Amino acid sequence: MDRKKIISAVALVILAAAAGLAAATVNNCTVCHSKLMKKYSTPAKLYQSDIHNQAGLICSDCHGGNPLQTVRHDRKDPSQHFLGAPKPEEIPAFCDRCHGNADYMKQYNPSLPVDQLVKYRTSRHGHLLLENGDTRVASCVSCHSVHDIRQVRDPASPVYATNIPHTCSVCHSDPGHMAGYGIPTNQYEQYTQSVHGVALLQRGDVGAPACNDCHGNHGAIPVEVLNIAQVCGLCHVNNEKLYRESFHAQIFEDLDSPGCETCHGNHGVQHPDQSMLGLGDNSACGNCHEKSAEDPGSALGLSMKNVLDSLNLVLDEDTRLVELAGNQGMETSELGFNLRDIRQSLIEARTTIHSFDDERVRKVAEPGIALAVQVRESAGRLLGEHEKRRWWLGGATLVLIALILGVYLKLREIESR
Ligand code: HEC
Ligand code: HEC
Ligand code: HEC
Ligand code: HEC
Ligand code: HEC
Ligand code: HEC
Ligand code: HEC
Ligand code: HEC
Ligand code: HEC
Repeated sequence: MDRKKIISAVALVILAAAAGLAAATVNNCTVCHSKLMKKYSTPAKLYQSDIHNQAGLICSDCHGGNPLQTVRHDRKDPSQHFLGAPKPEEIPAFCDRCHGNADYMKQYNPSLPVDQLVKYRTSRHGHLLLENGDTRVASCVSCHSVHDIRQVRDPASPVYATNIPHTCSVCHSDPGHMAGYGIPTNQYEQYTQSVHGVALLQRGDVGAPACNDCHGNHGAIPVEVLNIAQVCGLCHVNNEKLYRESFHAQIFEDLDSPGCETCHGNHGVQHPDQSMLGLGDNSACGNCHEKSAEDPGSALGLSMKNVLDSLNLVLDEDTRLVELAGNQGMETSELGFNLRDIRQSLIEARTTIHSFDDERVRKVAEPGIALAVQVRESAGRLLGEHEKRRWWLGGATLVLIALILGVYLKLREIESR
């Protein structure tokens, strides 16, 4: 081959590579913005950690304009296609340009839903922003932030499960921000003290619901009275099933009573116990039924309480006996397994109270009670055996002492001779 041709081919390749490199790296938006005052340079600084940056998008993909242009953009010049920053009420459509476009998003991540705006429109937030222009509600950037948007499964994302309660509370716990809407501002406070909040925020159990698990992500709708059981039932499947099949479900519905919430509350759900079935202050049935054993409702509550109390009692007693035997060095691993089965039976019986059927609760508890009787006997036997061994040991020691004493006396007798 001709040397000139080779040289020019190589030169062409080098030139093309350099041009490609230049196109990829020259982003005058970032270059110029990095030098501006804080308000205008912060976006450029934050953008390093943004998922859009990682996906290869640059400022102009969102804001328009020409990144190769070294002079400042001019919104009034249509040939620059510069969109600038969206106003708060324009943000949902601004993001939806890409996120609502399945063909576009498919190139990056085919599994990402493209329905955020559709759902957002149905939410209270969406209604108020898009129909009333109320900019105090949450828009896309209130929950996801902007210029440092992360993947939702990134633990540093403001919408990661353990961060969500705080993200929502920025507005919902601020009485000033929420003034005039007439809704409480205590959801976060109650939630952090609830079984769910403690499990998620203190133990990092992401199986426990954050705000969005009950209210939806983009739907963020008020939970309607009639679908509360459904929301709780997403996780508490058996409780919901029993409740729905019970005669009481229809009664609650006729009363417009919010099912699970009537007895457990919503943001402040606590560990329930038998006192909710009794006649005291904590009575759940007593919210509507007369707190008297004569009332058929309270009577059923007491009957179910009885079963649970009995099982609880024998479980406590057995646990004590087995521990005692264990402390004395007896082999109790088999009994430990039995205790676990009894505990399981108690858990199932507690769930079964949602059937409002005391016979059914009794049936579920029966195997546990029967097993408890067996465990009690076995533990008793082990402790009896220990007692026998102690007598044996005591007897043997006495004999030994007598022997030693005998030998000692004998020796003295010999010495004194
Ligand atoms: C994913 C889309 C997206 C990308 C990419 C993006 N921005 Fe933005 N930017 C926005 C949105 C949305 C707003 C409006 C935020 C608001 O109102 O809170 C905004 C606002 C701004 C503002 C106005 C800030 C203010 O306080 O008035 C500047 C300046 C800005 N962006 C610069 C940049 C620069 C520079 C880059 C590239 C480093 C960039 N943006 C990349 C979406 C984006
Ligand atoms: C030569 C400097 C320079 C370059 C290059 C530049 N900007 Fe700016 N930009 C500014 C200055 C200065 C401001 C603030 C004053 C104003 O609003 O015009 C600004 C404001 C903005 C704003 C917020 C105000 C508005 O109009 O909405 C956005 C968004 C923005 N720039 C995006 C970009 C993008 C995207 C690019 C690249 C296509 C870019 N800038 C390139 C200097 C520059
Ligand atoms: C009220 C808070 C909130 C608002 C407002 C909000 N999001 Fe989200 N977004 C979330 C939560 C929570 C998730 C899901 C987190 C998870 O799955 O763990 C999410 C997930 C996403 C995802 C990942 C895919 C998906 O749908 O699960 C995208 C993309 C997204 N949001 C974009 C948007 C856009 C665009 C808007 C505005 C139209 C918006 N979000 C408004 C809270 C919000
Ligand atoms: C120019 C198109 C474009 C615009 C405009 C845009 N995005 Fe994105 N967004 C993308 C792409 C592409 C990805 C990366 C998808 C991937 O690789 O997983 C993405 C990813 C995301 C993710 C991470 C989803 C996940 O995987 O967990 C969130 C959240 C998100 N965008 C929110 C927003 C918000 C909020 C806005 C508006 C402020 C916005 N986006 C505007 C194109 C865009
Ligand atoms: C930027 C502030 C802001 C953020 C962040 C925010 N909200 Fe809101 N939210 C509001 C405002 C304002 C209202 C309107 C109050 C009303 O309903 O009249 C509202 C309404 C609601 C409602 C309807 C209440 C009702 O019964 O009327 C629910 C439910 C809700 N938000 C849940 C959430 C959840 C869950 C999150 C977090 C994922 C969240 N919000 C994040 C400001 C915010
Ligand atoms: C276990 C499910 C659940 C969780 C978790 C949850 N909520 Fe709720 N939320 C409800 C129910 C149920 C209602 C009441 C609906 C009704 O009675 O009409 C409600 C009502 C609301 C309301 C309307 C005003 C009120 O207090 O009645 C707001 C606002 C709200 N929740 C925000 C939040 C925020 C913010 C979080 C997280 C800190 C959160 N919720 C967590 C289930 C939940
Ligand atoms: C996203 C799944 C999820 C949703 C939705 C949910 N929960 Fe829970 N719930 C859990 C988990 C997980 C625990 C266990 C927490 C722990 O380990 O302490 C729990 C615990 C409880 C407990 C305490 C159980 C006990 O033995 O002490 C009650 C009562 C409860 N939830 C009621 C509700 C009610 C009422 C709702 C609806 C308003 C609801 N839950 C919605 C997952 C959920
Ligand atoms: C009429 C009152 C009432 C209603 C309605 C109710 N519960 Fe309960 N729930 C109780 C009582 C009482 C207990 C405690 C039993 C015990 O521990 O002795 C309980 C216990 C629980 C427990 C802990 C025991 C277990 O199953 O792990 C969970 C979880 C629970 N309820 C969830 C729900 C859900 C979900 C709903 C709605 C589908 C609901 N409850 C409806 C009264 C109610
Ligand atoms: C939100 C109010 C409410 C709560 C809480 C409630 N009930 Fe009821 N219950 C009713 C109503 C109303 C009726 C129908 C009364 C009637 O027909 O006279 C009813 C009927 C009954 C009946 C049938 C009684 C009869 O007269 O035939 C029983 C049994 C019953 N409830 C048990 C319970 C138990 C057990 C609990 C607690 C675990 C409970 N209820 C909690 C409102 C409630």
